[in-house]
Amino acid sequence: MVSAFKISEVIKEKSGIKRLTLTDFRNYEHLRLEPHLAPVIITGENGSGKTNILEAISFLTPGRGLRSAKMSDIKRIERDDKKQLEKKNQTWAVSATIQKNGEIYTLATATQKAERELDDETKAFDRRIVQIDGQKVSTQAELGKYLSAIWLTPQMDRIFLGGPQPRRSFLDRLVYAFDLEHAKRTATFEHLYKEWYRLIKMGRFDNLWLLGLEEQIAAVGVSIAAARRELVARLNTFLENEPDDVFPGLMLNLDGKIEQMLDKFAAIDVEDYYKEVLFKGRQNIVQNESVDGVNRTDFKVYYKQKYMPAELCSTGEQKLLLISIILAQTKCQILDKGFAPVLLLDEITSHLDDIKKDALLYKLKDLNLQAFITATDANKFEVLKKDAQFFEVQNGYVLEK
Ligand SMILES: Nc1ncnc2c1ncn2[C@@H]1O[C@H](COP(=O)(O)OP(=O)(O)O)[C@@H](O)[C@H]1O
Ligand SMILES: [Mg+2]
Repeated sequence: MVSAFKISEVIKEKSGIKRLTLTDFRNYEHLRLEPHLAPVIITGENGSGKTNILEAISFLTPGRGLRSAKMSDIKRIERDDKKQLEKKNQTWAVSATIQKNGEIYTLATATQKAERELDDETKAFDRRIVQIDGQKVSTQAELGKYLSAIWLTPQMDRIFLGGPQPRRSFLDRLVYAFDLEHAKRTATFEHLYKEWYRLIKMGRFDNLWLLGLEEQIAAVGVSIAAARRELVARLNTFLENEPDDVFPGLMLNLDGKIEQMLDKFAAIDVEDYYKEVLFKGRQNIVQNESVDGVNRTDFKVYYKQKYMPAELCSTGEQKLLLISIILAQTKCQILDKGFAPVLLLDEITSHLDDIKKDALLYKLKDLNLQAFITATDANKFEVLKKDAQFFEVQNGYVLEK
C-alpha cells in the first residue's frame, strides 16, 4: 500500500530551483530569485507580476508554458517617453540553477529570431532555444530529465467545461513527466498532421506522398495513444489506494477511438486501422469535416463516490478534482522517478474554504517539496509560516519578507 508511509520519505535528496533569473521577461527587466526547496509563497497586488514568475519557471520544461503564450508576447514591452514605441528586436531569457538528486545543473531558455519557408514565402518567427549546462540542446524534451513542473492556474478552473483540447494538453503534460519521448511525439504528430491537412486543402493529391504521411501519422498516433493509456492506468491504480479525505477520490478515463482499440487489438493492427481512417478522411478534410484520431481524444474525469462526470460537478468540486489529480501525479512521480516535481500553484487558495485550504497546505508540507504558490494575501499561509519562504512582488521587483 502506497499510502501507508510518508511519501516524502521516498525522496532522498530534494529537488527544484535554487536560483532563477529572468531577463526582459514580461514585466521584469531583470529579476533574480533564490528560492528555497520548500513552499515559496509569492504575494502582491493584482497585475504585479506573480503569475509571470510561475510562467517563467514553466518555460524550464517542454512546451509553451502555463499560459500557452505566443513567444513574441513574452518579451518585455517597454514604452518610450511618449508612451508609444515598444522596443523591437529584444529577446527574453529565463535561466535557473537547479538541483536534482544531489547534482546541480543550469537550465536556460530564450528566444531567437528564425525564418521559415512556407509556400515560397519566408516568414520570420521567434524560436525557443534551450541550453543545459551551457550546451545548446536540439529538443526541449531534454529539459524533462532535469526538472519537472506541474501547474494549476485559475484558467484551468474551466478545463472540464467546453472542448477537449485543454484537457488533452493537460493529460499530455502529465504523460511527459513519465515518458520524455511523449513531448517529441506530440510535436511530431502536430507537424505531420498539419502538413497532411495543408496538402489536402491545397488540392495536392500526390497519393504516395499522402500515404507516406498517413503511415507516419498512424505510427506516432498509436504511440501517443499507448503512452496516454499507460499514464491513465498508472494514476488509476494509485488513486484506488488513496484514502478519501477533503479532496475527492477520482477515476480517469480516455475517450478516444484509437486509445480504446488498444484494449483489444495489437498496436500494429490499430496502426493499420488508423491509416485507413486517415485515407478515408482525406475526403472529410475536403468537405471541412473532422477526422477521428488521437488529436480528438478526450480525457474524462469522474468524481468517484458520486460516479459523476467532472463537467457535471460544481465549480468548487471541479477545482478539488483538479487538486486531487495533481496531488496523485506528484506522488506517482516521486514514487516512480525518485524526484519530486516543482509545483506551480497560481491563486490556488482563492476558491477554497479555510478547511480545504489548510488541508492542502498541510499536504504540501508533508510532501516536503518545492511549491511556488501565489496569492494576494500572505495571511492565508499561517500553516506554513515556519516552513515557507515569503516573497512580495511590487511592479517588477521582488522582495523577500
Ligand atoms: N510582454 C510584456 N511586457 C511587459 N509587461 C507585461 C507583458 N506581458 C504582461 N505584462 C504585464 O504583466 C502584468 C501581469 O502580471 P501577472 O504576473 O499576470 O500579475 P499577477 O501578479 O496578477 O499574477 C500586467 O501588468 C501586464 O501588463
Ligand atoms: Mg496572476
